[in-house]
Amino acid sequence: MERITFTFLAVLAITIPCLEAGIGLFDDYLKEQADQAHKIAMESFVPNPENVTSELNLDVNLSMMAVEKASNSTRRGLSQRYNGSCLATNPIDSCWRCRKNWADDRFRLAQCSKGFGRRAVGGLGGPIYVVTDPSDDDMVNPKPGTLRYGVVQQGPLWITFKHDMVIRLQQELLVSSNKTIDGRGANVLIKEGAGITLQYVNNVIIHGIRIKKIVSKEGGMIKDGPDHISFRTRSDGDAISIFASSNIWIDHISLSQAEDGLIDAIYGSTAITISNCHLTKHNDVMLFGANDQHNMDKIMQITVAFNHFGRGLVQRMPRCRFGFVHVLNNDYTQWMMYAIGGSAAPTILSQGNRFNAPNNDAAKEITHRVNASPEEWSKWQWRSENDQFNNGAKFVESGPPIDGGIFKKGFMMTPRPGNQASRLTRFSGALGCDVGVPC
Ligand SMILES: *[C@@H]1O[C@H](CO)[C@@H](O)[C@H](O)[C@H]1NC(C)=O
Ligand SMILES: *[C@@H]1O[C@H](CO)[C@@H](O)[C@H](O)[C@H]1NC(C)=O
Ligand SMILES: *[C@@H]1O[C@H](CO)[C@@H](O)[C@H](O)[C@H]1NC(C)=O
Ligand SMILES: *[C@@H]1O[C@H](CO)[C@@H](O)[C@H](O)[C@H]1NC(C)=O
Ligand SMILES: *[C@@H]1O[C@H](CO)[C@@H](O)[C@H](O)[C@H]1NC(C)=O
Repeated sequence: MERITFTFLAVLAITIPCLEAGIGLFDDYLKEQADQAHKIAMESFVPNPENVTSELNLDVNLSMMAVEKASNSTRRGLSQRYNGSCLATNPIDSCWRCRKNWADDRFRLAQCSKGFGRRAVGGLGGPIYVVTDPSDDDMVNPKPGTLRYGVVQQGPLWITFKHDMVIRLQQELLVSSNKTIDGRGANVLIKEGAGITLQYVNNVIIHGIRIKKIVSKEGGMIKDGPDHISFRTRSDGDAISIFASSNIWIDHISLSQAEDGLIDAIYGSTAITISNCHLTKHNDVMLFGANDQHNMDKIMQITVAFNHFGRGLVQRMPRCRFGFVHVLNNDYTQWMMYAIGGSAAPTILSQGNRFNAPNNDAAKEITHRVNASPEEWSKWQWRSENDQFNNGAKFVESGPPIDGGIFKKGFMMTPRPGNQASRLTRFSGALGCDVGVPC
């Protein structure tokens, strides 16, 4: 029954003129991309999201036990100062970070995603492409050596950077399917220009870069695939925009100050993990679902884990519609209005986060519901488990408990408590990795 509804919605979505999509001309190529992307998104949706949340909690527990064991055996308490040797404190990081040969084995990262975006392997198996040129002057015929040239290549591609660089994108960077943008080993800063757009694509990893001061750009003709150039309308000024796309993993990104959102996932996007990011100085942080009419977002399943919501953030961490959002072991240093909000009956499972409320008495509440009466929102499932509440922070729960999920028979996972969130997020943001030594 669900399937019929979604198919019908897909047709609707595709015939709606694509102004919000930034598309000036919706040609046959884009129609085909949209159809394909929708099909993959439907296949990527999981009917038992609790299994995925439960599996992630198990992985957190296992990696934390390993950290505790190591620190016990060396008699260094975890509370002691970090001494500079590699310390991976969460299951995503422990998959790759402390290996000396990370630079010779970059594809290893493709095994490391967890949560709803766990199937993202990006450019695994493709050639390694090295960005040598930070310029971005030709939107239609990008120069070999530039980032824009890499992201529109045919087939899987693993994109790395030759040296530290600042890239000012003249227009949105339209990334095609099966790509990894891997900033490890260089200090890559995308700033003072357009942001990154993933539209009608599948399977992209973005890792280890910094993005700040992103602004709206006027649009025009932009290459968006090996054999296609799109006419784009003005871009919104999002740092990372995920549109009708699936199997996306955003990891270890430092984000601040964009004209619109830091990370948006809209228009029936799903199978997404946002992890290990460090977010600061921004108003509208993360938007999942753009409109109360977009019920294609019912398939949206997103994991937000091990992120540090740092200084100067105002609201939307995240703001959700329709889908299922797992907010696990994040460290919320501060918000000014609220932390987690939404409309249109999303399901939100908040586990093991540390919430530090601001001093303002009017903003102690973590949660914020809009466009619904209490009779209505009281049915939405917004549940908190093992969160830590500081300075009067208050999570207003609603709806029945979310089934804990049974990942392994008879094995109920308890989330790691919020007082461990700062340890789990300790290395958030882009890392400084040196070749030949653990990162
Ligand atoms: C580490 O030591 C603490 C306190 O001595 C103990 O409670 C804990 O079980 C130990 N953890 C492991 C994984 O050995
Ligand atoms: C840091 O601590 C680790 C684990 O206890 C130890 O193996 C390593 O030698 C220490 N490194 C430095 C630079 O002190
Ligand atoms: C991406 O990779 C998958 C798996 O190899 C393949 O089936 C798909 O066609 C690729 N997509 C594009 C657009 O190249
Ligand atoms: C998911 O959970 C259900 C019960 O909640 C269980 O029957 C099913 O086997 C699980 N699936 C997987 C893949 O673990
Ligand atoms: C998780 O970790 C703790 C110790 O750190 C342990 O006591 C517990 O049994 C583990 N497993 C589960 C399922 O909670």
